[in-house]
Amino acid sequence: MESQAYLSELFSLEGRVALVTGGSSGIGRAITEALARAGASVVIVARREAELAATVDELTNRGCRAAWVSGDLGTREGVRTVADEAAEMFGEPDTLVNCAGINLRPPLGETGDDVWDTTMSVNLEAPYLLGQRFGPGMAERGFGRIMHVTSQQAHRAFVQSGVYGVSKGALESLARSQAEAWSRYGVTCNTLVPGFVMTPLNERLSSDPERVAALAARTMAGRNGVAEDFAGAAVFLASRASAYITGQSVFVDGGFSVH
Ligand SMILES: NC(=O)c1ccc[n+]([C@@H]2O[C@H](COP(=O)([O-])OP(=O)(O)OC[C@H]3O[C@@H](n4cnc5c(N)ncnc54)[C@H](OP(=O)(O)O)[C@@H]3O)[C@@H](O)[C@H]2O)c1
Repeated sequence: MESQAYLSELFSLEGRVALVTGGSSGIGRAITEALARAGASVVIVARREAELAATVDELTNRGCRAAWVSGDLGTREGVRTVADEAAEMFGEPDTLVNCAGINLRPPLGETGDDVWDTTMSVNLEAPYLLGQRFGPGMAERGFGRIMHVTSQQAHRAFVQSGVYGVSKGALESLARSQAEAWSRYGVTCNTLVPGFVMTPLNERLSSDPERVAALAARTMAGRNGVAEDFAGAAVFLASRASAYITGQSVFVDGGFSVH
């Protein structure tokens, strides 16, 4: 059918190789499924092997191509090792999604150096190092897509999450600098900005019905996010269709940020 061919030309990820950090849980898992179902071969990276294997099994059972690498993105050595191992699965990735993230939550006044170091390592330095590892290759091959998953806290302080927002603000700046470096070679670099999404990351907040309802009321859509809300935006930003969109922050938040 004509419309199917047109949609494939715009959005199909057939033949693409994607690496998704944090692809075993929450938003990253939904993005992984979306990219894989759109045709990409996807390698996911996280620490816990059971969750990684379960995600890959589920995708493989539906006929998708997926693989996993376990490693800690909290150290430079860990990032380098998983990057090399991930590239061995389906070849050098042309799509990199940095979704792994942590929110340790001590308020700023109570934050020790250890919380700063761990937060910056996982949320900011790992995306930077993976960009350095794969961005130049993408540029050389003339096609690439880099996506970072940031937070509304890149734009505003929220629930006393201390240095978490600092790491996410810097991640948005990283996307702009990467866009400046590589966009002319066909590599776009953007961020997906969640509002409040019900995932294991915010279990404590999600288990308080009153706060959950209050947060939903702050959106325009009238509900909080679910991980699957990221599927369409991720496929779009990974696809040929988004070739002229770079350095941007795409809010997937039901209008939370503009209400
Ligand atoms: N949920 C929200 O409301 C919300 C709002 C704004 C932004 N975000 C952002 O969205 C992204 C995904 O969050 P989520 O809510 O989907 O969280 P999640 O369900 O807790 O998933 C986090 C993922 O990151 C991995 N990860 C964490 N630390 C790691 C490390 N040191 N090395 C390797 N992998 C690591 C986790 O796997 P392992 O634990 O097995 O390593 C898991 O796969 C994060 O960047 C988060 O900051 C979420």
